[in-house]
Amino acid sequence: MTKRITTIKEMQEITTTLKLKGNTIGFVPTMGALHDGHLTLLRRAKSENDISVASVFVNPLQFGPDEDYEDYPRQIEIDEQLLIDNGIDYLFYPSAEEMYPTVPMTIHVGEMASVLEGAKRPGHFDGVVMVVNKLFNIVQPDRAYFGKKDAQQLAIIEAMVKLFNHNLEVIGIDIVRENDGLAKSSRNVYLTEDERLEAVALFESLKEANKAFQNGERNAEKLQSIVINYLIEHTKGKIDEVAVYAYPELKPVDTITGQVFISIAVKYSKARLIDNIILKDE
Ligand code: PAJ
Repeated sequence: MTKRITTIKEMQEITTTLKLKGNTIGFVPTMGALHDGHLTLLRRAKSENDISVASVFVNPLQFGPDEDYEDYPRQIEIDEQLLIDNGIDYLFYPSAEEMYPTVPMTIHVGEMASVLEGAKRPGHFDGVVMVVNKLFNIVQPDRAYFGKKDAQQLAIIEAMVKLFNHNLEVIGIDIVRENDGLAKSSRNVYLTEDERLEAVALFESLKEANKAFQNGERNAEKLQSIVINYLIEHTKGKIDEVAVYAYPELKPVDTITGQVFISIAVKYSKARLIDNIILKDE
């Protein structure tokens, strides 16, 4: 049975005691509205550790003033049942007041947040790094699991773990998709029926670029055009970003060598969807 914990003190005491007894802790931070993407991370956390912990916290610090903080889907009872069904040991579910009684300082991510999602969403990664730092100190995991869907987030968390000397391993998990290829996301519920059908264009456009890459195309601008043209032809969603960056360095590239990712964002009436593909020049 999943145990629901709402205070920092209790969560910290539980994991401290469990670790003293020699247990390893696997942790998946989430904002809830759990779907198969989250559950894939959680199943990995459960299978690779003695104890599994999920957090559900819609973190106000990572939402911009015009973003969907108030409207973000919240369904804690359903989430809790999913955690029970998957045999997760603990649900950490704090209130915003518990997490931020005061916010006396901010963490500024700087360069790694100056591109892609970070550039489109000022302050977003400062908020992510703040909350994940706190969650790591509270849950004290041995392994923490993050999705490659948020590839920039994963790269920033890995850099943060090194910089702040968190004694844990960060594990990146491949993007989990719907049958038609759409990346699973809590925000997919915002899509209208027509938008939902069109949204397969995101992954299809990345597959087109991947095909060209496999056939030897190494020019980043050409791959970018392939994605843009595909999206223009197949969806009325507004293209917000199509970029090729070195991964995990997050630097722009002209000619692809080493590992890069193509990152895309498309805006629909109520949802802004992101997707990406990692390409490696062996
Ligand atoms: P959230 O969007 O709820 O995502 C929680 C974790 O699930 C992230 O690591 C995300 O990359 C992963 N995830 C989401 N959809 C996925 C998919 N389709 N395939 C694989 N992994 C997927 O990301 C956040 O929350 C927050 O920023 C958080 C890290 C919890 C900090 O507030």
